[in-house]
Amino acid sequence: MQDPFTQTLPDTADGLAHAAALLAKGGLVAFPTETVYGLGADARDDRAVAGIFAAKARPRFNPLIVHLPDLASVRRYAVVSDEAARLAGAFWPGPLTLVLPLRPAAGLSPLVTAGLDTVAVRVPAHPVAQALLRAFGGPVAAPSANPSGRVSPTRAAHVLEGLAGRIAAVIDGGACGVGVESTIVGMLGAPTLLRPGGLPAEAIVKCLGAPLATPSGAAITAPGQLASHYAPGAPVRLNVTAPQTAELWVGFGPATAAAPLTLSDSGDLMEAAAALFHVLREADTLANGRVIAFAPVPDHGLGRAINDRLRRAAAPRL
Ligand code: TXA
Ligand code: MG
Repeated sequence: MQDPFTQTLPDTADGLAHAAALLAKGGLVAFPTETVYGLGADARDDRAVAGIFAAKARPRFNPLIVHLPDLASVRRYAVVSDEAARLAGAFWPGPLTLVLPLRPAAGLSPLVTAGLDTVAVRVPAHPVAQALLRAFGGPVAAPSANPSGRVSPTRAAHVLEGLAGRIAAVIDGGACGVGVESTIVGMLGAPTLLRPGGLPAEAIVKCLGAPLATPSGAAITAPGQLASHYAPGAPVRLNVTAPQTAELWVGFGPATAAAPLTLSDSGDLMEAAAALFHVLREADTLANGRVIAFAPVPDHGLGRAINDRLRRAAAPRL
């Protein structure tokens, strides 16, 4: 769906009712979640879901995450094993996506699942996302609300920078608290970490009482798993402890004259995750042709998701 004008809606009852009505008539509505802003469409409506791919200029029809308000509504679309229910009980609502067997008769558009017999489901914690899902009353397919391959949005203004004029509306719910996309766990055999994200893998392992498998080569290739993704305009270099003079250095720790930009002044991984995509955008503006050089970030907890996104930002462009 191509709208000449994209409305910015307030996160009030009226704004949410309007957003739900737009979704119900097949419109595309961007909304805040605790991870990043999502670009939502009715997951049962083929045309609306196709509109997501068109608005993002996604090169391929990759499967999307279905957003629902609670575990009971998830069970209408997916088969939830006891082990999956344990994770859901511990971490939903929250930044965890589970890949589960699809209930084929449940009426999801095959575009959402890319024709697979599995479906990725998530129950977001953000109060605006929760209120929108309840007002709409159906499943909402939502990838991050950015043009394909670019930096994910963590504020309504970021959404408009990339998609204004291409979507019906964005609900302005302020800055996202977590700042990186959800952790995706496949629950089709041994629980498998498909994408590190806003829920630390360590917490999942503790809840399961068993390690997470890592994907085999047969895993699905989708945007979040493409080598180059989250790419700013400027080139990116990683693990830089001594930047060259012509580089814009982004630190992890107190800002200094050499590193005016930092992911976290206090070296805190939660703060760094929340700031990541915003800092990437800011660095891109300031770089002005220079390379953006990131200081090393510890590779545990949320640091795994941060380093995953930074590696993709630094990968050779497609
Ligand atoms: O935090 C998030 O997860 C955000 C917010 C908006 O909720 N959404 C998001 O969606 O990151 P997206 O489209 O960027 O990521 C979808 C990922 C893809 O990388 C794809 O690999 C995986 O979900 N996925 C979806 N369906 C799948 C399936 N049936 N099997 C395996 N992976 C699947
Ligand atoms: Mg994305």
